[in-house]
Formats: sequence, C-alpha cells, structure tokens
Amino acid sequence: MNAPADVSALDWAAVRADFPLLGREVNGKPLVYFDNANTGQKPRSVIETVDGFYRRHNANVSRAVHTLGSEATEAYEGARKRLARFANVRPDELVLCSGTTFAINLVAYSWALPRLKPGDAILLTRMEHHANIVPWQLVAERTGAKIKVAEILPDGTLDLDALYAAMTPEVKLLGVTHVSNVLGTVNPVREICREARRRGIVVLVDGSQALPHRKVDIAAIGCDFYAFTGHKMCGPTGTGALWARKEHLAAMPPFIGGGEMIKEVSFDGTVFNDPPHKFEAGTPNIAGHIGLGAAVDYLDALGMDRVEARETELLAHLQEELAAIGGLRVFGTAKEKAAVVSFLVEGAHAHDLATLLDLEGVAVRSGHHCAHPLMRYYGVAATCRASLAFYNTHEEIERFAAALKKVRGLLA
Ligand SMILES: Cc1ncc(COP(=O)(O)O)c(C=O)c1O
Repeated sequence: MNAPADVSALDWAAVRADFPLLGREVNGKPLVYFDNANTGQKPRSVIETVDGFYRRHNANVSRAVHTLGSEATEAYEGARKRLARFANVRPDELVLCSGTTFAINLVAYSWALPRLKPGDAILLTRMEHHANIVPWQLVAERTGAKIKVAEILPDGTLDLDALYAAMTPEVKLLGVTHVSNVLGTVNPVREICREARRRGIVVLVDGSQALPHRKVDIAAIGCDFYAFTGHKMCGPTGTGALWARKEHLAAMPPFIGGGEMIKEVSFDGTVFNDPPHKFEAGTPNIAGHIGLGAAVDYLDALGMDRVEARETELLAHLQEELAAIGGLRVFGTAKEKAAVVSFLVEGAHAHDLATLLDLEGVAVRSGHHCAHPLMRYYGVAATCRASLAFYNTHEEIERFAAALKKVRGLLA
C-alpha cells in the first residue's frame, strides 16, 4: 500500500483561489458549494483554455489542412492522450463522448444489442445511477434478455456474497458503479471484475464518481468498459469518455453514423475508420475536450493521492459535525466511502431542507439523485446530499453545520 499522501504539503487556500466561482455570494452569504457529485467547479486554467481555444484556435478537427485545423486537431488529440495517461489506458482505446450517459448507451447499443438474446441476463446493483439502468432496460426490451439486481446491505455496501451468487451462467454483462453517487460507497471493483471474469462475464464500470476523487488505474481494475464524465472532474460539461478493451472496440459496430467515423463511403456501403474514431461521428465537443485536457493537467499537478487524502479529511469532519447535530437520518456508512453524505432531517422534506439551506448560501442537492431503486430500498422519496471536493474547507463544513442546525430548528 502507498503511504498516505501528505495533505498539508499543499496550500489548499491557494488551490481554492484557482476557482473563481467559489468566491461569489448566494443570497447575501458566502457560497458553500456542496453539490460536487452533481457537477464540479472549474479552475481558471480550464476556463482560460476553453476561452483561448475560441479566441485563437477555433477550427474543426481532422478535416482541414490549414493551420487552425491542424492546431485544433493537435490540441484535441493531445487532450485524449493526457486523459489516457491520467487513467493509465491507451489513447486509441478511449472514445471521447458527451459523458457517462453516452458512454454507457454506446456499450448498450453497440456491444449488448447485437449479442444478447432471450435467456441472457444483465446484472446490475441496487445502487446504480439511472444512466446505468435505463439503457440496459432498453436493451432488455429489444433482445428479450432479463435484468437481475444484486442487493446492498443497510450500511450501503454491496452485498458481495449476493453479487457473486447472482453471477450465474445466463449473465453476460455486469454493470456496476465504482463509487455510489448517493451513498459514497467505494465498491471493490478489482475483486468484482476478477470474480466476473472467472465466470466469463463482461463488466462495465461506471466511474463517474471515482475518477474526480481518487487515483484510478483503469488498466489495473480488469474491467471491459469504464465510463466517465468530464464535468465532475473540473472539466466542461458535455465531455467524457468510454474506455473499452481493444478487442471489444474492434468487434463493436458504430453506435451512430456520420462524418469523421469513416474511411470510405459509397452508396454500396461504408468502410469505417479505426477505433476510437469509428465511434465519434460528427463534430465533437472540441473546446470542451481540450478543456478537459487542462482539467486533467490541473488534477495531475495537485496529485490524486493528495486530492483523496484531503477529501477523506474533510469527510471525517463533516461526519463529526452531522453526528453532533443529531436528529438526522444518514444514508450510507460504508467503511470505504467517498466524501458524499446523504441525509434527512426527521419529519422534513428534502426539498424544504435544501431550499432553506440555499437561503443560507449552502448548495446541496435534494431529490432522488437519479437513483429511484436506491431510494425505494431505504423507503424514502428523496434525500439531501452534501458532496465535497478538495477545494472545500473546514470552515465551510462548520458554516454548513450551523446552517443545518438553524434550518432544523425552523422545520421542527
Ligand atoms: C454514478 C453516476 N453515473 C452516471 C452519471 C451520469 O453522468 P452524465 O449525466 O454526466 O452523463 C452520474 C451523474 O450524476 C453519476 O453520478
């Protein structure tokens, strides 16, 4: 095991100052932004990269031979390489796309739809985001395959015995989240992939909530597909990627067709480009992905071990404060947990809680968090969710706790 990163080795106040939005006020109060699982804020370097692209380099990629076209293509492909290095994968196995939702749909339509048949099953877990449920239901409807669900334990950990018992011969694909967006639970994806591969099951890991918060070595996980989204990891919205094993990318037909994904088109047929371009039809989010490249540089400079250590320290403080408030129902207390805490004040609706917190300048998300089956498990319609990032502070946690105490008093 690596030695724990030295959190004190970074000037976190200076890091926070890199994020212009965090300096604003909301409802006359300094903003406390605790909605990072929803989307993350952007450092100046990302904002300036996107701005600079449009000011100086804007052109389409892979089409024009003029200077601007070459600059845009070089920057776009450069971003793919940086992203690949960040996640320890090969650039030609990384399909750039609009985010996790697109990435999972790509696997559903290009890998699963042509393969699955009646009698097959897709295994999911209770804690999946709708983005890792609905595409599989659409595939199941069209192929006749069944959806199976592996349950969780009350503390929000996956019931691994149940998961492995559910890996029966008809299961062809397992979709599992690396980190739960509601509970913060970090799933042992390496071990899960090992078990799945032993049984010949293909695994898709939803990395949306992992990559922004910890060092992820996709190659070491042993999965077949890893989907992630750029906007939660300091990058622009509408960015992200699907990593897939080379052999899958080679065998999969394109999901959507159009320009850029072809070698040769005639009315008799089309010869497709090599992966990953085969899956990137049309003009991509060029500025966004170049911005994501800058985001990855930013996170790399911080060091993901330090990011994780910082967030672990903040989470411990947040949990202490919540325990001291009392009268709260907290969802998800797994030992391996990212800095996401879902909670309710007994007797109060999550939306009322979030609205009153907003009046105190505190941004938390309330709702079902695109996880209806998980809400159903806990017997609630919605929760409030405080989700932290490395740029949050201990002082913000104290302000959040004071606001929550005040709000609880109002709602009692
Ligand atoms: C675990 C998880 N999966 C998938 C998604 C969907 O990501 P996107 O909306 O960026 O496609 C999210 C976003 O909240 C998420 O938290």
